[in-house]
Amino acid sequence: MTKGTFPVESFKGIETPFYYYDIDLLKKTLSIVKELTHKYGYHQHYAVKANANHKILQLIAAAGFGADCVSGNEVKAAISAGFPCSKIVFAGVGKTDKEINLGIDYNIFCFNVESLPELEVINELAEKKGKKVSVAIRINPNVDAHTHEYITTGLNENKFGFSMSSLDKVFDKIKTLQNIELIGLHFHIGSQITEVETFEPLCERINELQNQCEAKGIQLKNINVGGGLGIDYDDPNANPVPPFEAYFELFHKNLELRKDQMVHFELGRSIVAQCGALISRVTYVKEGDSKKFVILDAGMTDLIRPALYQAYHKVENISSDLPIEKYDVVGPICESSDSFVKDYELNGTKRGDLVALRSAGAYGEIMASQYNCREIPKAYFSDKL
Ligand code: LLP
Repeated sequence: MTKGTFPVESFKGIETPFYYYDIDLLKKTLSIVKELTHKYGYHQHYAVKANANHKILQLIAAAGFGADCVSGNEVKAAISAGFPCSKIVFAGVGKTDKEINLGIDYNIFCFNVESLPELEVINELAEKKGKKVSVAIRINPNVDAHTHEYITTGLNENKFGFSMSSLDKVFDKIKTLQNIELIGLHFHIGSQITEVETFEPLCERINELQNQCEAKGIQLKNINVGGGLGIDYDDPNANPVPPFEAYFELFHKNLELRKDQMVHFELGRSIVAQCGALISRVTYVKEGDSKKFVILDAGMTDLIRPALYQAYHKVENISSDLPIEKYDVVGPICESSDSFVKDYELNGTKRGDLVALRSAGAYGEIMASQYNCREIPKAYFSDKL
């Protein structure tokens, strides 16, 4: 396995830790997705929650993507980075009145609605403004995403969306709401799904539902299949670009679309994860009784995924070519869970070395916290170091 090609010399004057983004890789990823999107006539809404760094958002907007937002502030961030309002979808189980009003004022493409009370509130707020608002119904298809339980969202036990069995009630309700127009169905079964076949049962459910809708005389223009395509955390060097071709092909083969129907995607992680790394400096190498600890100046505050989901991020000492040794790599935070990897093979490491925590472009910077009164690390970009 080769190391990532980091411009270590250019990193010299930069205060650590920091997020580093490989802009060439992001652009390459975007152009691959764009090409396939064009090939199949699909529509992309980047999931802003994965990374809302302004420059990253600008690049994704410039590539022609729409945005998938889950808060009023995400809607604002997307608009200020150049995403057109007409390509913004807004999901989330707890949209407040203020957030709904914001979406209505900006004339966003649609609200992905998750409950009956939310439908009623959107209708009421739209009525006050004398508008008719487009909504898609988020359906919980009860499909197992075979991923970590914290990031599975499409099972009946999850808080998201409407259950398949409640749909007749929902359609009947919508007929009574004058200021709402039902324009589509929305799904999302989970995140970090590495076997594309996992999306097959989702397609089957969608096909069944389409028949059900047709039987009720309901024609829907938009099918939003959500996001969830996983990335290779084990080997980001070998697989810097996720298997987009197989992924889009699967939907093309399995979805039975009606005439003029549009298919929408909400990919987050697969777009941005591999282009980002958290770069940190080794503060100390500490010899314990039975093991050696590499203590970094980055911690769980800067990349919480290992502590929160037991997630693995590849760690590389980008300053050393010394023979491999075994270490636990930990952060400085006063929590035992502030640990990145255990008994891990790393080139011989000393104080001052730079270490890269790979695949940190998604759910890294955006999930950073100030616990222990720490500063949120700055971001640097390969095209402007
Ligand atoms: N659409 C909806 C409705 C979602 O809930 C999500 C992610 C996405 C799209 C984007 O999914 P992606 O393509 O990124 O898998 N913080 C966790 C991931 C949480 C994902 C939540 N929903 C992590 O670090 O793994």
